Amino acid sequence: MQTIGVIGGGQLARMMIGPAIELGLELKVLAESSGSAARDRATTVGDFRDLDTVLQFARDVDVITFDHEHVPTAIILALEKAGVAVRPGSEALTVAQDKIVMRQILEDLGHPLPVWGVAETTADVEGFLAANGGRIIAKAPRGGYDGKGVAVVTESVQVQEWLALGPVLMEEMVDFSRELAQLVARRPNGDTAMWPVVETTQANGVCTEVTLPAPTGDDRIIEVAAELGRQIANDLNVTGVLAVELFETPDGRLLVNELAMRPHNSGHVTIEGSVTSQFEQHLRAICDMPLGATDSRHPWAVMVNVFGAMDLGRYGRLAESSDVKLHNYGKEPRAGRKVGHVTATGSDVADTTSRARAVAEIFHADI
Ligand SMILES: Nc1ncnc2c1ncn2[C@@H]1O[C@H](COP(=O)(O)OP(=O)(O)OP(=O)(O)O)[C@@H](O)[C@H]1O
Ligand SMILES: [Mg+2]
Repeated sequence: MQTIGVIGGGQLARMMIGPAIELGLELKVLAESSGSAARDRATTVGDFRDLDTVLQFARDVDVITFDHEHVPTAIILALEKAGVAVRPGSEALTVAQDKIVMRQILEDLGHPLPVWGVAETTADVEGFLAANGGRIIAKAPRGGYDGKGVAVVTESVQVQEWLALGPVLMEEMVDFSRELAQLVARRPNGDTAMWPVVETTQANGVCTEVTLPAPTGDDRIIEVAAELGRQIANDLNVTGVLAVELFETPDGRLLVNELAMRPHNSGHVTIEGSVTSQFEQHLRAICDMPLGATDSRHPWAVMVNVFGAMDLGRYGRLAESSDVKLHNYGKEPRAGRKVGHVTATGSDVADTTSRARAVAEIFHADI
């Protein structure tokens, strides 16, 4: 039996637990705290930025993988040097960890991107603002998630604090018609599997809703997105699940927003929506097992996130929509925090969406 070590104890690690049991894999988690979402498998509670803690954790596992991309590069390199199988490996991961590196490498590979630049001074920001309509997006290169580290900027002074910490990524404000995400899984032997591209909805930079497949009258988008995902996974030698976040422009082009080399919020919908979920597939890929089928099990699957707090007193109301699935991450309530999601499946996209939204609304509690 292979033992997987997951660094990070969030909901992504938590949702790997079920598939690991089904596949007969042992799953161990290095969690930030004893209250982490994946606490049931937390064999170590400690700091993923501490080399000794991580090396000690890795000692009893066959493969290391990740719940987030914030593990310092030096630690990933030290793991590899110690002979640990790290999947995805350092070469691929460093691209996902730093948004400036990601832009540069994707550009070198010839993939379609928003117009971008790097600012080191406020004068650089002013120049980019002037060249891009006076309204741009600034991004902190590292450490961002859920829209933290992303800002709409109209004046260079807004970026001053970030510039004090180092270079800042600047991007044109893309006038996208919608956002999509292409999920890909890749084995060490190079086999890939792509799910149909999904449509994602973000509010204030945070994913709120995902529809599988992305509604489209034009199947070309599905093929183009799948090919783009496959190429990026191959180009970067990714092992495991890769999410490619995309902007679709009004003239039908796809631009790459960012990459995540792990299961991703846009793929939670595959748990009920697909023959093989992203969590099972990630485990298969990192263990070099054959990949599972990515076909949909229903015409439509819609996932809606629940933020802040879940009202557990309302479990009885699941009876109102017995075919909608609830996922509770067991996290402490906090304003804006992702604490769970619901997924509905069906044969009509509008009806499936409204059933998912209704159940998310029932369980959402303000804090
Ligand atoms: N260049 C851009 N033009 C227009 N909107 C953008 C641009 N870049 C980002 N956004 C918006 O901000 C959201 C968050 O940006 P991004 O995905 O880079 O940040 P993040 O915080 O790392 O996200 P995640 O939660 O996916 O890790 C995007 O999904 C999109 O809605
Ligand atoms: Mg994003």
